[in-house]
Amino acid sequence: MEYLWWQEAVLYQIYPRSYMDSNGDGIGDLAGIISKLDYLAYTLEVDAIWLSPFYPSPMADFGYDVADYTDVDPMFGTLSDFDALVKGAHERDIKVIIDWVPNHSSSQHPWFIESRSSRDNPKRDWYVWKDPAPDGSPPNNWISVFRGPAWTFDEITGQYYLHSYLSEQPDLNWRNPETRQTMLETLRFWMRRGVDGFRLDACHKAMKDPLYRSNPVLNTPRPGYKNLGEYDSLIHIHDQGHPDIHDLFREVRSVLDEFSSTRPRFSVGEIHLEGEEWASYYGNGDELHMPYNFGLLMGDWSAAWVRSVVDTQERLLPPGAWPNFVLGNHDEVRFTTRLGEKRARLATLMLLTLRGTPTLYYGDELGMLQADIPPEEQQDPWGRRQPGLGRDGCRTPMQWNAEEHGGFTSGRPWLKTLDADGSRNVAAQLSDPDSFLNLTRHLIRLRKGSVALRRGSYQPIEGLPEAVFAYQRLHPDETRRVYLNFGAEPVRIATEGEVVAAIDRDIRVEDGELVLGGLGGAVLS
Ligand code: NOJ
Ligand code: CA
Repeated sequence: MEYLWWQEAVLYQIYPRSYMDSNGDGIGDLAGIISKLDYLAYTLEVDAIWLSPFYPSPMADFGYDVADYTDVDPMFGTLSDFDALVKGAHERDIKVIIDWVPNHSSSQHPWFIESRSSRDNPKRDWYVWKDPAPDGSPPNNWISVFRGPAWTFDEITGQYYLHSYLSEQPDLNWRNPETRQTMLETLRFWMRRGVDGFRLDACHKAMKDPLYRSNPVLNTPRPGYKNLGEYDSLIHIHDQGHPDIHDLFREVRSVLDEFSSTRPRFSVGEIHLEGEEWASYYGNGDELHMPYNFGLLMGDWSAAWVRSVVDTQERLLPPGAWPNFVLGNHDEVRFTTRLGEKRARLATLMLLTLRGTPTLYYGDELGMLQADIPPEEQQDPWGRRQPGLGRDGCRTPMQWNAEEHGGFTSGRPWLKTLDADGSRNVAAQLSDPDSFLNLTRHLIRLRKGSVALRRGSYQPIEGLPEAVFAYQRLHPDETRRVYLNFGAEPVRIATEGEVVAAIDRDIRVEDGELVLGGLGGAVLS
């Protein structure tokens, strides 16, 4: 079997606003990222970066409201900065993946401005416009993920338009062939500029019921992986994931394939679905290369639960499909805060030794914590609408050193920096052999140097104490075994072999026994 770069890669997500500010305006930018390429390539040794949106945008949803799909917002730099970033990354053997937001544009996108201008405008059908219900209310009961009706009435033409998120993010109509071709062309634009792949935002939302029927209502709201309030009172069968979506992803895949003769291009979808439905986005190897697996974001971190997440993915994968795991991203509470420091180290050890492509979110290599941003300082539109769901806390500036604002900016950062003057910054952790950063670096290097960890099969190890989740990674040339104690009590495991990585330096195999303290974990040869 031939392995493609993204199957063997460690991916790293950068939120450009918060990574590194090069010009003192308090907002991270592309030049800032360029200045950190050496860190990424030679300190952390990741293989690919995914950049959250840097497109021109009114920033109603911090860039996930795109006003031009083929440019860079001046706040982040220029297209030549982008070219320099790609060049610099490629010179260091780092692939570049960018966010692509197919479901919606900004309401300030010229397409939408035209579309809303009159009912017979040629771009009218590029978005979803519907007449009011007879009583003037919205056309159906769909609710925005960010709360409130998914429809906004537009006085200019007397119709409602659809927005699965903010009213500043009108949904594109992917059933219109012209919209479709124009959007697909934007993929080509970036691949011509050297981009290696795309992270597809909210892409299960792109195709809805063509009849725009109301969703069934639940009498008892059933929260999904997080409690979204009124959104959870509907069963989302009509406002997302219509079967026609698979045609769309086959088309996306073929556009990527047009460029894959020079090197394979890659797609990873943000798909908030579960089970067989989630797995269907792999298609028959002809849709997304991977739909993100968010399984590890939603449980109690008992050994049995963790194992079930891993085993479930193995069971669901269609033939030839490649697994993946994430512990966090720009929408989730920082996992070191969710799990606590020690369990977060254990989770990192697991993430980087499981079968499947791991994605790290910037700062997670330091065990960066969630910031507590008071309601009056919330910048995130979601947090302002639904207290408790704000995402600012996981988007604070990267902590580079103990200087003011963590070395992120010489100006005033757009969000406050957390604990940069303590131990959670790159400089401090580099000089501490036991730091989170050095653990992460060691594990990345271990994975890169181990054919078993990169390519080996996954086989759970049975017959261990209940609190332990353990697995083998088997490859004809090498075997690695991973033992993770998710309990608080120490465990003793009869085994041979040598510890090649562990979350504590004193973990070793002695007299045929591996002793793991509470929340201890080790990789054995
Ligand atoms: C998912 C993105 O990850 C999130 O940040 C964004 O707000 C929504 N999609 C809408 O684009
Ligand atoms: Ca800046």
